[in-house]
Amino acid sequence: MSMLEVSKLKVSYGGINAVKGIDLRVDAGEMVALIGANGAGKTTTLKAVSGLLQHGGHVRYNGEDVSRRPAYQLVELGIAMVPEGRGVFGRLTVDENLRMGAYVINDRGLIRGEVDRIYHLFPRLKERRDQTAGTLSGGEQQMLAIGRALMSQPRLLLLDEPSMGLAPLMVEKIFEVVRQISENGVTILLVEQNARLALAMSGRSYVMESGTVTLEGESASLLDNPQVRQAYLGE
Ligand SMILES: Nc1ncnc2c1ncn2[C@@H]1O[C@H](COP(=O)(O)OP(=O)(O)OP(=O)(O)O)[C@@H](O)[C@H]1O
Ligand SMILES: [Mg+2]
Repeated sequence: MSMLEVSKLKVSYGGINAVKGIDLRVDAGEMVALIGANGAGKTTTLKAVSGLLQHGGHVRYNGEDVSRRPAYQLVELGIAMVPEGRGVFGRLTVDENLRMGAYVINDRGLIRGEVDRIYHLFPRLKERRDQTAGTLSGGEQQMLAIGRALMSQPRLLLLDEPSMGLAPLMVEKIFEVVRQISENGVTILLVEQNARLALAMSGRSYVMESGTVTLEGESASLLDNPQVRQAYLGE
């Protein structure tokens, strides 16, 4: 049994079918990438999995059908999403943003421990703990968005384009931490435009085109696939 099993997932916005019946799975401990061009349906897929969009088909988490559960319940069950564009609360401080991520935890001591753990992972955030999030750089906001998601102690982390708009050095930093999070045992479903990076980071990958999964397999073999090389690696 996989940790996450998505079957025949369908999402439409009004008359537009954005996701057209895709299947994918993520096993416990894996990092799986979902790549594809703009508008392929990647974000829509993540939103459906995390309970933010109504959908057809099924989403199973640790064997349980969670298709009809609202987002907050999925967070309680251990699924957290880092949204595209980060969505930090600009007027709140770094510290306050992190604490918002812990709304499913009641124990104050536990929350304090989690905040410390995040600051250990991202020392830059610790230095800026009292700064308002809106004044952070793009990279720091991405760190904060990841940190906030980790505050709910997820077992499954859904990451939507963590490299978006960031300089190469910052991308490297962010992905170093993503790898660390993965090594700490958190299962990851990673959506990325940067296919080269996503394929290098992950064990398996899915390629989406116009709402369908067109290719899937070991990331290492997709890196060698001529079709992938031409369409997504710019060769
Ligand atoms: N709220 C919405 N209302 C109507 N159509 C939408 C909405 N959100 C997304 N779409 C459409 O659904 C399709 C898939 O969008 P989605 O955001 O899932 O793509 P994506 O693969 O994440 O793209 P990108 O790499 O640019 O983020 C697109 O054609 C988009 O225009
Ligand atoms: Mg997207």
